[in-house]
Amino acid sequence: MNYTNIMNASMKEHWNEIYAALDADELTWYEEIPEASIKLLSGCHINKNDPILDVGAGASTFVDYLVNQGFRNIIATDISEIALDKLKERLGKEKTSRVRWIVDDITRPVHIRDLSDIAVWHDRAVLHFLLEENEQQEYLSTLKKVIRKGGYVIIAAFSLKGAKKCSGLNVKNYDQDMLAGFLGEDFSLLDHFDYTHHMPSGGPRPYIYTLFQKN
Ligand SMILES: C[S@@+](CC[C@H](N)C(=O)[O-])C[C@H]1O[C@@H](n2cnc3c(N)ncnc32)[C@H](O)[C@@H]1O
Repeated sequence: MNYTNIMNASMKEHWNEIYAALDADELTWYEEIPEASIKLLSGCHINKNDPILDVGAGASTFVDYLVNQGFRNIIATDISEIALDKLKERLGKEKTSRVRWIVDDITRPVHIRDLSDIAVWHDRAVLHFLLEENEQQEYLSTLKKVIRKGGYVIIAAFSLKGAKKCSGLNVKNYDQDMLAGFLGEDFSLLDHFDYTHHMPSGGPRPYIYTLFQKN
């Protein structure tokens, strides 16, 4: 893929182009079993009817996991409809019908802001692409608007020792203190750990995984 050509395209086109070009299991962020997300989810005291929002879900296997575990209020959103279509294709018709699908840009959200009472906000490898202050603040204000009191926030981002770029885009690297500072004093850090994801090529991608709870 020629990333130079798409750097000037809109983010939606950028991500659509990537998802159209590659199978889900060829993406550098693909994981057969999203074990680190599952570990943090296990620390959330929720029931199967509670709303779980996967922000920038892409074609993530975390959604398969949630469906297979019997969660009944799953919302998958992404800027790329092609990504979500790939995920739907993998899930098949019946499981697809058990998920609510929203195509939206988290930096200019329209539909996501209509949500409320979210019990778990899950973001793996999305926030770190937001480099502009106004994009980060829009993300944060949306998170704060839709999450319920006592709700959980799982954010996984490239760690300080992680890659500086992904899929041709610069990223902002984080540690748990930076994420805690970003979310602010309304959120308590419950858990965090370093986790090295191995890309399909075998190369390492160090992440920081965090779990917060809204006070
Ligand atoms: C590295 S991928 C991670 C996908 C998924 N969370 C996973 O772990 O497999 C980043 C995802 O964020 C989505 N994304 C990027 N910018 C976005 C934005 N502004 N709003 C919503 N989704 C966005 C991309 O389309 C892509 O699916």
